[in-house]
Amino acid sequence: GASYGKHDGVLAFRAIPPNTLDKVIVPNGYDSAVVIEWGDKVTADAPEFDIDDQSAWAQRRQFGYNNDFVGVLPYGRDRDRAILVANHEYTNEILMFRSYLGGDAAPLEQIEIAMAAHGLSVVALRRIDETGQWRADSRNRRGNRRIHVGTKFEFTGPAVGSALLKTAADSRGRNPYGTLNNCAGGVTPWGTVLSGEENFNQYFTGGDGVPAADKPALARYGIDTTKHHAADNRRFDRVEARFDLTKHPHEANRFGWIVEVDPYDPHSTPKKHTALGRFKHEGANAILADDGRAVVYMGDDERFDYMYKFVSDRRFKPGDSRKARENNLRLLESGTLYVAKLEYTSAGEIDGSGRLPSDGQFNGTGRWIPIVRGSESLVPGMTVDQVLVHTRLAGDAVGATKMDRPEDVQPNPATGKIYAALTNNTDRGKPGKPGADEANPRNLNKHGQIFEITEDNGNQASETFTWDVPIVCGDPADPATFFAGFDKTKVSPISCPDNVAFDASGKNLWISTDGNALGTNDGLFAVPLTGPERGFVRQFLSVPFGAETCGPFVHDDNKTVFVAVQHPGEVTGATLDNPASTWPNGDYAKPGVVCSWRLDGRDVGR
Ligand code: FEO
Ligand code: CA
Ligand code: CA
Ligand code: CA
Repeated sequence: GASYGKHDGVLAFRAIPPNTLDKVIVPNGYDSAVVIEWGDKVTADAPEFDIDDQSAWAQRRQFGYNNDFVGVLPYGRDRDRAILVANHEYTNEILMFRSYLGGDAAPLEQIEIAMAAHGLSVVALRRIDETGQWRADSRNRRGNRRIHVGTKFEFTGPAVGSALLKTAADSRGRNPYGTLNNCAGGVTPWGTVLSGEENFNQYFTGGDGVPAADKPALARYGIDTTKHHAADNRRFDRVEARFDLTKHPHEANRFGWIVEVDPYDPHSTPKKHTALGRFKHEGANAILADDGRAVVYMGDDERFDYMYKFVSDRRFKPGDSRKARENNLRLLESGTLYVAKLEYTSAGEIDGSGRLPSDGQFNGTGRWIPIVRGSESLVPGMTVDQVLVHTRLAGDAVGATKMDRPEDVQPNPATGKIYAALTNNTDRGKPGKPGADEANPRNLNKHGQIFEITEDNGNQASETFTWDVPIVCGDPADPATFFAGFDKTKVSPISCPDNVAFDASGKNLWISTDGNALGTNDGLFAVPLTGPERGFVRQFLSVPFGAETCGPFVHDDNKTVFVAVQHPGEVTGATLDNPASTWPNGDYAKPGVVCSWRLDGRDVGR
């Protein structure tokens, strides 16, 4: 872990200007380079990437498409080596294949390649020349791993064996195959990686043949069961029948979970933890309570959906002994699952314009409403497996607070305060939809906000908390923005926060964006969380044209910032042969992980 005293956390870099350039831009005095990109070798037996000779066999050994989460873990005591874990959220076939034909017309091999390009990669890294630059280690691939749609998983927790998880291929409801739409995630204090299965709905075909009993819950998760998606779906069902819900209606219930991977054991069976609930999981970030219980914070990225937390029953065991490792790998099997319900202090004063209430702050109190304790449901009318498999319905039943798309929700390891990126919600306040409230203070919210939670009594396992909204994003010249009261003439424009991270000082929040509604490229921003510069948002980096900025991850030596460049060149009308971006190699767009470091070797941001 990081030693917070060693880094003063002063941010002194000069912000980069918003731009639309087709490259990675970093501040003066910094450099950046690709760590690994789509198609690069992951496993030792991987072939060289050839865009005109792709195969599913090769893609299952190569770095997948559209990297989102980035975690960098220590490699023993060797400070010049590390292990990268990256998620491959989704594919964009029109940018992957020449003359791409979708749906019914796609060659099966293309569908199989796209399936294989999803999942996660575990990749050994090596530091370059004692700098902050890192690269995939081409001499050491033995521990590397590709996890994909064909990888065997194991369910844990109270819903194991539930009828809702059983399929023709798995009559015991124990072993799902594959992981899909892995968005954000987190590195746990016990050295594993958590990953959120997010928009899994898009991989299934439905239609009238779906059993009526399954339809309401499928609909709450965004699966259209009213028509058969022939052309506008990836048609995974043409390769594997389990993606056709008219034949296998419970297969969709086997996605939408938090996945845990042990990156140190390439032969381990990754887990899907039912105790953490099922929704469109953006990600999950864990911290230890003072008594050693693991506390995990999670967001459900959908307009008007909820924030959750999980508190484990077991306690963390420190150390590297086999006993400690075995204990810690079971922390997420049992505990209490909560959903957030907010109370407001200035309810009548919020008019949806983003104007501050008279007390000068968007703030209030809140409660974590328990919905499952151990193996007991606390939601009237729902069994424990119903609550865990149809968690959104449980949140609805207990009156949880409808948020503006909760993406990354992450505790600051130095302070225990929790930061959520509420990315946007253009439906807020529309006819028939909930209007603004103090936590979601703008109607037709295009730019999003940062939400801060302080658990009562400094206890991570507390069931009550206070909250505030330190940053309401947008163009600082727009009166409907707020930067914790800091001088708005000095801050960078920021729109659509998605992922958050902390540096090794614990004093700053790093925010990456997705979908910048101000018309410039997405980027990475840093902002002090305390002191006179709280709210002083500065842009550190921008990604190439058409990309979103993911990760981010600051190495615990504070010398390197990692970001994932996801979907460069993803612009309407662009194709592989008519690309909107040619990053990183000048020919066509490839997603990839990038690192940035200071040329003089000092702390990043300093
Ligand atoms: Fe995959 Fe919520 O972003
Ligand atoms: Ca995201
Ligand atoms: Ca994060
Ligand atoms: Ca997003």
